[in-house]
Amino acid sequence: MGWFNKDVVNILDFNREDIEFLFSKADEMRKQLKEKKVKKTLSDKIVGLAFFEPSTRTRMSFETAAKRLGAETVGFTGEEGTSVAKGETFADTIKMLDSYVDAIVLRHKFEGAALFASDIAQNPIINGGDGKSHHPTQAMLDLYTTKTLFGEIDGLTFVLIGDLKYSRTVSSLIYGLSMFKPKEIILISPQQLKLREEIKLFAIDHGLRLREEENIEAISEADIIYVTRIQKERFPDLQEYEKVKGSYKITKKLLEMHAKKTAKVLHPLPRVDELSPDVDNTNYQAYFLQAGLGVPLRMALLSLVLGGE
Ligand code: CP
Repeated sequence: MGWFNKDVVNILDFNREDIEFLFSKADEMRKQLKEKKVKKTLSDKIVGLAFFEPSTRTRMSFETAAKRLGAETVGFTGEEGTSVAKGETFADTIKMLDSYVDAIVLRHKFEGAALFASDIAQNPIINGGDGKSHHPTQAMLDLYTTKTLFGEIDGLTFVLIGDLKYSRTVSSLIYGLSMFKPKEIILISPQQLKLREEIKLFAIDHGLRLREEENIEAISEADIIYVTRIQKERFPDLQEYEKVKGSYKITKKLLEMHAKKTAKVLHPLPRVDELSPDVDNTNYQAYFLQAGLGVPLRMALLSLVLGGE
């Protein structure tokens, strides 16, 4: 399928070969960063960062990636400082930004916003997370981190814990895993936050082995323990959030009691109270590596999409 000039709306817009090619480019970017010899291949480009929802990692890692490659960035986080606050439409905002820049990284609370933007814009739209279903570059990063840690993705057992209903990183990761052959995906969540039926059906249709477990002790089977926070902002009713908040917590003690010594904990971050800081200084912790790899991974992606090769 290839990357040049393509929109990155859904990880399923790509195939395994594309994803593995991206990982090999990310490895090259890591090497260039380590040796402080990054080639400024995008010095004639400007990347637009249109973040209608808050972000720390996605926005800043894309911005860092663009700047490392010599590109400029323009953009905003939140609608308050833009003319959207005066009533300008999303479509007009995208149309205008598209005429200024070479690619737009977009985050929006509404599902489908990136696909809609990709119909309007001439330049590539990169989905930095929209609604509850898609965060393709996070899934690419989660898979790349796994590959970096274990050398492979096939054959591993993933335990996904937490808000599996509203977390777009979980659905995107399952879409991404459908291109690989993990041994099994084990799902642990409060009853109200179970994986949505359409994602379950997708996974089963694509040959993934899924198993729902009530008991947190199922982490004993995991190679990757993927923790997510409860996505408070996506609950239609805050009373429902109140019922589940604080209902699970991964701690050092829990990991030492049940997890394999070789297991690694990933979390897309931000965390709230579901992942204890006492895990930070253990060998299980891999979420800071994961966040850090966001820069070389997104450098590779920008470079491929914008033709900086
Ligand atoms: N992982 C992630 O999307 O983090 P941010 O919301 O900080 O971008």
